[in-house]
Amino acid sequence: MSQTMIGVIGGSGVYQIDGLSGAEWISVDSPWGAPSDQILTGKLEGMPMAFLPRHGRGHVHSPTTVPYRANIDALKRLGVTDVISVSACGSFREEMAPGDFVVVDQFIDRTFAREKSFFGTGCVGHVSLAHPTCPRLGDACETAARSAGVTVHRGGTYLAMEGPQFSTLAESKMYREVWGCDVIGMTNMPEAKLAREAELCYASVAMITDYDSWHPQHGEVDITAIIETLTGNADKARALVSRLPALLGPDRAPCPHGCDRALDFAILTAPD
Ligand code: ADE
Repeated sequence: MSQTMIGVIGGSGVYQIDGLSGAEWISVDSPWGAPSDQILTGKLEGMPMAFLPRHGRGHVHSPTTVPYRANIDALKRLGVTDVISVSACGSFREEMAPGDFVVVDQFIDRTFAREKSFFGTGCVGHVSLAHPTCPRLGDACETAARSAGVTVHRGGTYLAMEGPQFSTLAESKMYREVWGCDVIGMTNMPEAKLAREAELCYASVAMITDYDSWHPQHGEVDITAIIETLTGNADKARALVSRLPALLGPDRAPCPHGCDRALDFAILTAPD
């Protein structure tokens, strides 16, 4: 049995979390380069926490330039067991409205300009990604969101696009009508893939800011409107996070879904 440590990766609009005792921004070195920023560490209700602003304080990294490998590696080095990804997204569903949260459980990865694996030359590994998020952690996020008074949808397919431009109308319609996606964002991939390779439980809380461009009554995506919705979402995200320690508990039993053992049969390269 190990100790639970929650790592929160905050998206646009979420650059800190509240109420940490002994809060300290610390630098963490990684062989994969520098993480997006220093990491805020401390305790929430006695539970160790780490918070990393995905885009850096001051929003200096675009979705393409976020150092995803360094970020996941740095959280792992700190002892994080459970990663909660918080990010903004657009919605492809009328009933998933701006201001609502979605606990995403599937992804379609359309990103193409990012490093996506810790494996490569020298050490070859293939992890399973059929179920890319941890249902146990997703349960906790759903319960925390409901108790914080947030309208939350459980389950949804997230289209990860490269950006930084938003989708064309034709793309938006294809993702929604042909591919059956529920939400769209620019950052959850390759983050979820890397968390699995690092044997970390990963849940994604996608905060809806807009209807992308498919919705006839809502027109184009507008960054000013997104930022207005983001401000409200950020408070709700912090309320959600503050409820997680009580829901997850201090003692970390092996993940019932095997996220923490993802490499058991994944590495093909023979040991030296
Ligand atoms: N982030 C927030 N809204 C988005 C959208 N419509 N497309 C991609 N990323 C987003």
